[in-house]
Amino acid sequence: MNKVLWEKNVGNFSKNIEPGYQSSLVKLSQEGSYWTSVLESYGLYRDCSILDIGCGNGMLPAFLLEKHPQIQYDGIDVSQEAVDFCNAHCASENARFQHTDVTNSYYTNQNSEYSSKNFKLPFADDSFDFVILLSVFTHMWLEDIEAYINQIHRVLKKNGVCMATFYTTPGKVDTEPDPMQHHRPAPDQPRSYDYWTCHNRPPLAKIGYRIPDILAIYQKKNFEKISLFHEWNLKNGIEIPRGELFPHSPRLTPTQDCFIVRK
Ligand SMILES: C[S@@+](CC[C@H](N)C(=O)[O-])C[C@H]1O[C@@H](n2cnc3c(N)ncnc32)[C@H](O)[C@@H]1O
Repeated sequence: MNKVLWEKNVGNFSKNIEPGYQSSLVKLSQEGSYWTSVLESYGLYRDCSILDIGCGNGMLPAFLLEKHPQIQYDGIDVSQEAVDFCNAHCASENARFQHTDVTNSYYTNQNSEYSSKNFKLPFADDSFDFVILLSVFTHMWLEDIEAYINQIHRVLKKNGVCMATFYTTPGKVDTEPDPMQHHRPAPDQPRSYDYWTCHNRPPLAKIGYRIPDILAIYQKKNFEKISLFHEWNLKNGIEIPRGELFPHSPRLTPTQDCFIVRK
């Protein structure tokens, strides 16, 4: 599917995509080309293999595959509808999409017998040069993220790169003000770690974590941290570095931070 077709189709798709998502087609178009350029800057080349976890409605492959038709692309998603859409519009000999049967209380209705803990990514060890998750860990509990990161480590080739976006804050729930009006620490579903969610929405609609808690998960697998930056600021058209440069920002970032690590 080229990007014009994607823009035409995606407006009709999908009840599983967050409200407001369909209406921001221009933003999404820019995001697809933006993430393609980020991948290029981390060494994406003609024969690379990439796994896109939570591929959604094909925002990334629509742009990535148009520019790099020869890369090996695999997309997986818990939404059967998303996978059907991508299979209808984006699949090719070297671009495959498959449904993954894991419960996500926000995105899936069914109670699958698989949770992230007993889930195994359906790929062989050392298969991919890149694994990317855009706005996916923003809808998962931290223990499920850890299970995914363990699997990502397994399927990445040596020196392979994982890029994943998160909502983050450096501080502690109890010691910081409500970072944004519509966010709150979420005591209704206690966990052993700090997290933030939105008022009046299910927790997995939008969930954020502390940067040190996220980094600790990568460190357990001995991932090498390459970069932590604030996601493209589409309004300003500039990339805002974050994390190490602004470690004491008290705010839960209104857009996401990207963690880039190498196996
Ligand atoms: C906000 S959308 C982002 C889609 C796409 N990555 C993008 O940036 O346009 C989140 C996607 O993650 C998928 N998802 C949620 N939990 C998942 C899981 N545990 N494994 C795989 N996909 C998941 C959802 O079905 C949804 O398509």
